[in-house]
Amino acid sequence: MTFRSIVVLTGAGISAESGLGTFRDADGLWTKYDLAEVATPEGFARNPAFVHEFYNARRRNLLGAAPNAAHAALAHLEAHGPARVTIVTQNVDSLHERAGSRNVIPMHGELLKVRCHAAEHVLDWPDDVSVETRCPRCGDAARGPAGRLGYLRPHVVWFGEMPFAMEPIGALLGACDLFVSIGTSGNVYPAAGFVDEVRGIGAAHTVELNLEPSDGASRFAEAIYGPATKVVPAFVERLLRADA
Ligand code: OAD
Repeated sequence: MTFRSIVVLTGAGISAESGLGTFRDADGLWTKYDLAEVATPEGFARNPAFVHEFYNARRRNLLGAAPNAAHAALAHLEAHGPARVTIVTQNVDSLHERAGSRNVIPMHGELLKVRCHAAEHVLDWPDDVSVETRCPRCGDAARGPAGRLGYLRPHVVWFGEMPFAMEPIGALLGACDLFVSIGTSGNVYPAAGFVDEVRGIGAAHTVELNLEPSDGASRFAEAIYGPATKVVPAFVERLLRADA
């Protein structure tokens, strides 16, 4: 069966074999940290230094990681298959882009970027951030006593905030004929509801690729279980063979 428009939703599981931890597995980040403290606007307002330290550590960890065979397979599919492929990722690690995927929507933001409170400048930022770090684009105003002007925050979406690009994502879900969900536990909305959106709209095929059945597993027409570096390249090869 050939497809013309493929939407791939990815989560932390696709980067697990790159050495980046997931959130809800046995040793996941949310077993070690209280997400209310480090992943909400209220937590940041209460203790910005602690939140910066959390993201600094994740940023340093990310700088030592590389894309794996699953990221590479999706980049290959986009470059060599006839279908339009869009990756909508909940990951903030930019590993899809580094693997060569061009059509990527990082709906939960990007760890290697920061933005300032006031002017919403978004900046590439591979370095540590502290409560003292000021937005270089806000210039002199950032050094004045102007409240929070020029203060930086991670360019990631926190709980209670709206993910990025929801409108274009909705349009893509409505137009796709294949929806593939990879390495996500199906706990966090709106991403966890994408499969229902796709099913509600039309006849698109839906597939889950994950280490184990996710919370939403029964909502997919097809499921393949195993580590992403094995099942994703095999699935991509199957798609490309069908197109040949
Ligand atoms: P989770 O940690 O909730 O789920 C990771 C999923 O990946 C689980 O279902 C695992 O079984 C699976 N998995 C683990 N290792 C794998 C491997 N090698 N190959 C394939 N699958 C594997 O992570 P997400 O679903 O991405 O949001 O979490 C969603 C959101 O919750 C994140 O974007 C983040 C988090 O809180 C925010 O911080 C806003």
